[in-house]
Amino acid sequence: MQVDVLDHPLAAVALTLLRDETTPRVSFRSALHDLATMLIYEATRGLPTVAVPVTTPLAETTGARLAAEPVVVPVLRAGLGMLPAAHALIPDAVSAFIGLARDEETFQPTVYLESVPADLSERPVLLLDPMLATGGSALHALRLLAARGASGVVVVSVVSAPEGIAALEASGLDIRVVTATVDEGLNETAYIVPGLGDAGDRLFGAV
Ligand code: PRP
Ligand code: URA
Repeated sequence: MQVDVLDHPLAAVALTLLRDETTPRVSFRSALHDLATMLIYEATRGLPTVAVPVTTPLAETTGARLAAEPVVVPVLRAGLGMLPAAHALIPDAVSAFIGLARDEETFQPTVYLESVPADLSERPVLLLDPMLATGGSALHALRLLAARGASGVVVVSVVSAPEGIAALEASGLDIRVVTATVDEGLNETAYIVPGLGDAGDRLFGAV
């Protein structure tokens, strides 16, 4: 499994805003959008393209289009904060949705929505979730995507814990992780330290 940690000064600045407990919701959303843009740019670096002819005001030349329509899959709720960045960079992407809520005691994800195309074979797939903590939510989503034929899924995460990375690695799934940071680890309630807190609550408010 390949893990790429984005190393860029603008990413570090956006991540600092996300970590800061005094950052208001509107600025948190905006910083997540900016950082998701950088992460998705990196995550899509290997997308295959096909050559297409293009006529400029001066000459005919060769351009490119994506060889296959990517599928972007935010994990609800917090992954929704990364979706506008994916739409901006890949306007033709198909959006699929997986709704998961982590049980606060067992830390296991419970599923409340699966809206995913039946056949994902031959499609580039990006899984969007700002937090990779125990890895349970990502693994559940990745197994669903694999059951629909997805391979080579790129997990786009903002803050990852070593425990979550290890769980994905142990799964043996053919995936790549693109993240802004691998933090110190999990606390006793399986929150990432230093982390940024509860990403869904900071984006949308506690429910
Ligand atoms: C958070 C986060 C991930 C998950 C990570 O979602 O957005 O989906 O926890 O934890 P894990 O790696 O231990 O599974 P949460 O379940 O809190 O739901 P929310 O996005 O609706 O707040
Ligand atoms: N989910 C979050 O939103 N934050 C964490 O630190 C862990 C799981």
